[in-house]
Amino acid sequence: MTHNGHIDGQTQLVGIIGYPVAHSLSPQMHNAAFAELGMNWRYVPLLVQPQRLAEALRGLLALGFRGANVTVPHKVTCIPHLDSVTEAVSIAGAVNTIRIDASQGRLEGLNTDMSGFLTDLAVNQVSVNEESRVVILGAGGAARAIGAGLARSGAEIAFVNRTLERAVQIVDFLRASWESCKVKAVGLEDLAEVSREATLIINATSVGMFPYTDVSPWREGVPFPKGAVLYDTIYRPLQTKLMRDAERSGLRAIGGLGMLVYQGAAAFELWTGKKAPIELMRRVCLEHLNQS
Ligand code: ATR
Repeated sequence: MTHNGHIDGQTQLVGIIGYPVAHSLSPQMHNAAFAELGMNWRYVPLLVQPQRLAEALRGLLALGFRGANVTVPHKVTCIPHLDSVTEAVSIAGAVNTIRIDASQGRLEGLNTDMSGFLTDLAVNQVSVNEESRVVILGAGGAARAIGAGLARSGAEIAFVNRTLERAVQIVDFLRASWESCKVKAVGLEDLAEVSREATLIINATSVGMFPYTDVSPWREGVPFPKGAVLYDTIYRPLQTKLMRDAERSGLRAIGGLGMLVYQGAAAFELWTGKKAPIELMRRVCLEHLNQS
């Protein structure tokens, strides 16, 4: 059934809970997808202060929302307020998508960041296996989700972080989940050592993100490993300083736009049961990123 674009009594709502939330590209991406498929659905930004998170989540149920995304700073703190979470959430330690079962009055927490990252790697034909040596820069939520997503591949994974203690925590957690996983934690001063034979380098820090675009998380003077692939989870800007520097050293560099699109597409499909118009979603994000 096509829809003529009006909001009416049948309009279904989803949204994104964050603080701040105005910068999010998800409303544009999802609303364009709904329009393309002629669906009477809308996606709204929902600015929720940390101390009102529990109220806001129950409010989604009361207001008949069909689902939501969750972003900074609520990805971890929302977990105790949900009725259930998936295995991916337990592993990643964070929720980015909520599915609402209105008939049961239940909120289910999911993580499509992790699957979005793995899908984008696959789409870019980057395979990760027992032979791979992965360096993950960072030890926040993004690093943990990505590391957890890759740990089962059998790859050797080094978490390199300014604050060593945070990297150690991730490694301890992953080892407790999969005894056989090959993970280690090092400080930034050991980047040269662990990256020498790396096949895949992933930036999961916020260093280089708009508006501080002239900095890179790569330590000055450390050579990039030959033949490696660099994946930067940052998508604003589309090309980061790290990506430029890596390309100059002959590496293939991939930005975070695909991860953004595939996490969104996975959420769209969970809420609506329909196949997401992925290319349109990518185009919409690109247009907005090129404008800003
Ligand atoms: P997210 O959940 O999005 O991953 P986060 O938990 O704030 O966000 O993590 C941000 C990551 O970027 C961390 O690894 C952080 O390093 P610390 O753990 O030492 O804070 C890293 N990061 C942020 N700013 C940095 C900087 N200027 N130099 C080096 N690392 C930085």
